[in-house]
Amino acid sequence: MTRTAFVIGATGQVGRAAVRALAEDGWDVRAASRRGESDANWPDGVRTVVLDREDIAALETALGDGCDVLVDMVAYHAEHARQLTSLAGRIGSAVVISSGAVYEDDQGRSFDTQSGPDGFPHYPLPIPESYRTVTAGEATYGTRKVALEQGLLAAGESLPTTLVRAGAIHGTYNLRPRELFFIKRAVDKRPVRVLAHNGESRFHPVHTANLAELIRLAARTPGSRVLNAGDPQAPTVAEIGTAIDAVLGHSCETVLVEGPAPAENVGDSPWGIAHPVVYDMTAAERELGYRAVTSYQDSLAETVAWTVDRLGDRDWTEAFPEMYRTYGSHGDMFDYAAEDRWLAGRSG
Ligand SMILES: NC(=O)c1ccc[n+]([C@@H]2O[C@H](COP(=O)([O-])OP(=O)(O)OC[C@H]3O[C@@H](n4cnc5c(N)ncnc54)[C@H](OP(=O)(O)O)[C@@H]3O)[C@@H](O)[C@H]2O)c1
Repeated sequence: MTRTAFVIGATGQVGRAAVRALAEDGWDVRAASRRGESDANWPDGVRTVVLDREDIAALETALGDGCDVLVDMVAYHAEHARQLTSLAGRIGSAVVISSGAVYEDDQGRSFDTQSGPDGFPHYPLPIPESYRTVTAGEATYGTRKVALEQGLLAAGESLPTTLVRAGAIHGTYNLRPRELFFIKRAVDKRPVRVLAHNGESRFHPVHTANLAELIRLAARTPGSRVLNAGDPQAPTVAEIGTAIDAVLGHSCETVLVEGPAPAENVGDSPWGIAHPVVYDMTAAERELGYRAVTSYQDSLAETVAWTVDRLGDRDWTEAFPEMYRTYGSHGDMFDYAAEDRWLAGRSG
């Protein structure tokens, strides 16, 4: 009998890839989102569903007789765990996207403390899933994800759930593409860039196709577990810049700075972290036989093409408003004047 999958958040960057992977693997997929959109790359037979998952009655109705696996891209807190566990009788198993932001180092540092002095966590390299996490709560994105995880793991066999702790997600349909930091500079033919931390920052990326593969395998083999999700390599920020330049045929001078950003809006980037964040992938390999289906380098040209196309001639804040909301509060990523002032002061 055909196995059924119900995907919440189906038209986001991860959802699009996951729906495709599941449908191509023979699942009968219902693809739910508030706008109920479809994707040209989905095989025939995928059914779209208009659903706001915050509306529990609507979710119950949409689920109908239920599904063999429910895949949730947009679960963020304990209430979402309660919502899913209340439907356990109708859901065979679940795969839910969590985040690497849950980890806390042995000094109590996490992504939540990164703006303070020496606040960036010093994680082990790589971080295993067994490593400690922030305390569950309502305070931050990370604490809420931990609460979500704990709520779902507590369901045990009544709703076997794989929590996927994703790294820095990249791919097409990314509304907050970190890659834009280098892409826009290349499009603007910016001749120079400044990278703090000697350009050696590493924030483990994960391509949407690799996440989709992990989701596909977890759907096949239900279990109550937590798994990291990262690409086969974790390139440095300098390597990412070089790779994006190569895709776009751009060349520029990279000025490397020891230590943190030397001035406001100078040297920082979406990957510009003080200590490496690399996720251990051996559990996914061991438990599910997971093998990555692509790498950062191999997937980059498609991601860059999609991002350049969406940017078009528009101001980036208009083309990527979600990205502006996420990163805009931390300063202007494209403050070329500040960069030029700092470079002039340095050489003078
Ligand atoms: N970005 C990263 O680097 C990163 C890193 C680690 C973990 N994560 C996790 O990744 C997940 C986000 O996945 P994504 O990047 O694929 O998201 P996304 O691209 O922002 O897409 C979100 C999807 O969910 C739908 N959606 C939003 N709210 C909904 C609602 N209330 N009910 C039903 N559908 C809804 C959206 O379509 P409509 O607008 O039509 O509803 C869309 O299909 C989150 O769990 C996040 O914590 C992200």
